[in-house]
Amino acid sequence: MPVTKSTFGEYELYTIKNSSGAYVRIASLGAAVQSIVVPNRNGVPTDVVLGYDTPGEYLRNDGYFGAFVGRYANRISNASFVLNGREYKISANEGKNTLHGGNGLSKRRFTEIAVGENALTLGISDPDGGDGFPGKVDVRVTYEFSEDNELSISYEATSDADTYLNLTNHSYFNLSGRGDILDHELLINADGYLPVDEELIPTGEVCSVSDTKSDFRKMRKIENGFYDHCFVLSGSEPCARLVSKESGIAMTLATDMPAVQFYAGGATGLRLGKGGAVYGKNSGLCLETQYYPDSPNHPEFPSALLRAGEKYYSKTSYKFSIC
Ligand code: BGC
Repeated sequence: MPVTKSTFGEYELYTIKNSSGAYVRIASLGAAVQSIVVPNRNGVPTDVVLGYDTPGEYLRNDGYFGAFVGRYANRISNASFVLNGREYKISANEGKNTLHGGNGLSKRRFTEIAVGENALTLGISDPDGGDGFPGKVDVRVTYEFSEDNELSISYEATSDADTYLNLTNHSYFNLSGRGDILDHELLINADGYLPVDEELIPTGEVCSVSDTKSDFRKMRKIENGFYDHCFVLSGSEPCARLVSKESGIAMTLATDMPAVQFYAGGATGLRLGKGGAVYGKNSGLCLETQYYPDSPNHPEFPSALLRAGEKYYSKTSYKFSIC
């Protein structure tokens, strides 16, 4: 079905609906996923992401609800890195470190590039020196929603100078459409995770998940609301699967990225959300597919280097079904 567009204050809100009536809504503000509405086991339409009804709330949003995250998702220590022998100082926004790119792209206006039958492409350009990063970067992000309720997000970018780029989406999922996510069951196909220091900066080691509370290789209840770790994906599909026994909705995640940050929403402060919903700690969880945090300062980690003139491409998909 054709993508429809409505106004969202000074911004736009796009709806990609399939013939069953399931839909996703994307805002041009922060290219944010504002809603994902899919049927529960009784056929009742259920919104499975947290979000807001107005642009003002997105602009005040301290939690990156649904947002496109760049230039560098997750943390970069000491807000600096060395590239091609030169030290770059980037915007620090979490103490002395950078989180999600500093000022970042999450609250910027994205422009419409293409609207298709079931897909939408938005774009943004960040100048050379944006947040201190080298290179003028041109980004395109395409949201596609299939007839079988699969949302796929593809990221394409180029830069006119060597730079680091790590793009993701920061949706908070709650497959029950209410309450908290502690009773959700989760599988992450990861044998390793990255231990972090007290500022959540990776130490550089990759530890085995065996015999730790981070072992999600078999589907199990989340229970603990303090997860905020980067998991190193084993490469076997799916990368992750999340289930709400309450609604019967399952989400299966596939990606070409090497890692996923599982953030259980433990730091979400009390606030009002869509339709008067009250959100707080653990109301939603994030599964942010990405390069490893702080990889520009860890040559042993997979490289997020984007060379001048080369193409950045990555794709993550979220398939919703009844379990
Ligand atoms: C980080 C958390 C942070 C949250 C909201 C997540 O990606 O891992 O530490 O609190 O984003 O900013």
